[in-house]
Amino acid sequence: MTPAPTDPPRTTPGDRVRIYEVGPRDGLQNEARPVSLATKLRYLELLADAGLREIEATSFVAPAAIPQLADADELMTTLARRAGVRYPVLVPNVRGLARAETARVDAIAVFTAATDAFTTRNIRMTIAESLDAFAPVLARAGELGWWRRGYVSTAFGCPYTGAVAPEVAVEVAVRLLALGLEEVCFGDTIGVGVPPQVRAIVSRAVDAGIPLEKIAFHFHDTRGTALANVAAAMSVGVRCFDSSTGGTGGCPYAPGAAGNLATEDLVYFLDAIGLGHGVDLDGVLRAARFIADALGKPLTTKVGQAGGWDPATGQPTGRG
Ligand code: COA
Ligand code: ZN
Repeated sequence: MTPAPTDPPRTTPGDRVRIYEVGPRDGLQNEARPVSLATKLRYLELLADAGLREIEATSFVAPAAIPQLADADELMTTLARRAGVRYPVLVPNVRGLARAETARVDAIAVFTAATDAFTTRNIRMTIAESLDAFAPVLARAGELGWWRRGYVSTAFGCPYTGAVAPEVAVEVAVRLLALGLEEVCFGDTIGVGVPPQVRAIVSRAVDAGIPLEKIAFHFHDTRGTALANVAAAMSVGVRCFDSSTGGTGGCPYAPGAAGNLATEDLVYFLDAIGLGHGVDLDGVLRAARFIADALGKPLTTKVGQAGGWDPATGQPTGRG
């Protein structure tokens, strides 16, 4: 029986969630105010200090498409990588792959979408063209032994064409996985998804032969549904979620795509329901305040404002 949206996450002892941090990439890509290389490096350090073990660091895309991340080469050659931390980067084509190879990257993410209307604006390719572009990228990355992820953006709805059926998103995921991926990530690029859609995508994906361990979700909290969607995905066995420390983020090619799910909101929620993830909330809040200050913005995430909570004292934690 399919669990109801309000069912608690299905958990077992030792069950863990992977938190895939996207702040340095998705969080910064849409910010107009330039962020210095030194600030980005410090942000990456604070994220690793907080216990995050998968941190999407930047994008090897056309600098004109995403000016904020034009320093990707320097960032990845300067970054002091921590043992045990994976630093994936976005790569759209063989040109990006060559740059990533020079910068000694060992984990990449390619990105397409569930609708041609979105991919043609975002990467100037149809879905089919994007898959053709990714085939040599993923083959080479596979030869090099790199970790590979593929995004299906607009999996829950498209800013240009509207509703997206779960089977449409899953079909793109299947075609992407056939090119060789460790993981496929369904993105709610404009934050319109709801729990029944999440469960429909998972059930169709599993029916199509995609193992649960290869499924991740990338929710935006634009309309306040992100954590409900996380709970829904957990209730059907998914254990990897993207989030952005400080809740920053959005895609310049997706109008209205504000607010990734904030890492601090996700960590608070997982702590409160007792699921392990290895990330320290106080550390995340330090990184969230750091990046908000650097961007000259108030920290507006829920847990960023309220802090954590100590059930022993009833008092907020990590506020400063
Ligand atoms: N890295 C650096 N430069 C690149 C590049 C890469 N990976 N890919 C292409 N370029 C350069 C080309 O050399 C060319 O430069 P020139 O104008 O100086 O000759 C220019 O970008 C255009 O190249 P072209 O191959 O015609 O690409 P395009 O204009 O069709 O754009 C993408 C395709 C994919 C490169 C571009 O749309 C892009 O990078 N999009 C990323 C969008 C994104 O990151 N969105 C947010 C993530 S959801
Ligand atoms: Zn996002």
